[in-house]
Amino acid sequence: MSKSGKARAHTNIALIKYWGKRNEEYIIPMNNSLSVALDRFYTETQVTFSTEYQRDRLVLNGNEVDEKETAKVNKFMDVVRQLAETNLYALIESENFVPTAAGLASSASAYSALAAACNEALDLGLSSKDLSRLARRGSGSASRSVFGGFVEWERGEDDATSYSHPVEADDWEDELAMIFVVINDQSKSVSSRAGMSLTRETSRFYQYWLDHVEEDINEVKKAISTKDFQHLGEVIEANGLRMHATNLGAQPPFSYLVPESYEAMRIVHECRELGYPCYFTMDAGPNVKILVEKLNADKVIEQLRKHFNESQIIMSEITRSGVEIIE
Ligand code: DP6
Repeated sequence: MSKSGKARAHTNIALIKYWGKRNEEYIIPMNNSLSVALDRFYTETQVTFSTEYQRDRLVLNGNEVDEKETAKVNKFMDVVRQLAETNLYALIESENFVPTAAGLASSASAYSALAAACNEALDLGLSSKDLSRLARRGSGSASRSVFGGFVEWERGEDDATSYSHPVEADDWEDELAMIFVVINDQSKSVSSRAGMSLTRETSRFYQYWLDHVEEDINEVKKAISTKDFQHLGEVIEANGLRMHATNLGAQPPFSYLVPESYEAMRIVHECRELGYPCYFTMDAGPNVKILVEKLNADKVIEQLRKHFNESQIIMSEITRSGVEIIE
């Protein structure tokens, strides 16, 4: 006996960052976060549960992932089995759709697609809210990838109250885009999970982060409701930099940013001086993501091309599609 389901989820980029958990097992964050969903980056995942299987297996872009690396996925599948009251193991076949092999694949789209595929395969009948709670158990940011457009993840107090929901933007999403500047990182990178944990536990600047993040969320929501791009940009840029500043206060201190990241940030400032408003944000890596109004995107790309190769610059629209079941 076997049952399967397949789903597609888009990745998202946080404009107000999730940085630190108050409960590691249930992935309950310290603060609310807010993201946009990207049209060009997504994951398609098929899951098949069968009485024939003796363990979970993960095939990623056609290659079987070895057992050691599937520990995180196995843990998530245990959560699914507990919820569905089943002991069936699964074959997970996942494909990441990203324009280049530039490390842009994300756990957000991966766990959102996997949660929805499991919901379908096992007939769990989960609402979007409960799907977001389930996806959260795989990776915090995945809770946001259940929805399209602007999405807020309410930190909540516990498993029942920590979930995401869309933020109404009156179609403003259609006028915005995100430009990725892909920067190759030579150094050994710190995962977001390890980085946020070390920072929350040891950083002298972490309380400062917590003291301001709620205000940032409120300001961003205000900017969205009035379609005030400048205000949105100023708040998200400051929030992103503040997140990176917390890492400098950790013991030992660390940074995800490299000289080329700063070069991209400088170009963003230059674009603003030239009259092309755009604002940057960075996550747990050196890539720089630039939020821009579509009407100025070509001008910003033109400036970036003076310093970066064409293959390093990728633009994506914002999608309003959330996770969906596919054939
Ligand atoms: C910097 O969702 O990858 O991208 O919950 O431990 O899996 P885990 O972390 P993850 O962290 C994302 C951190 C971030 C900011 C964000 O997306 O909000």
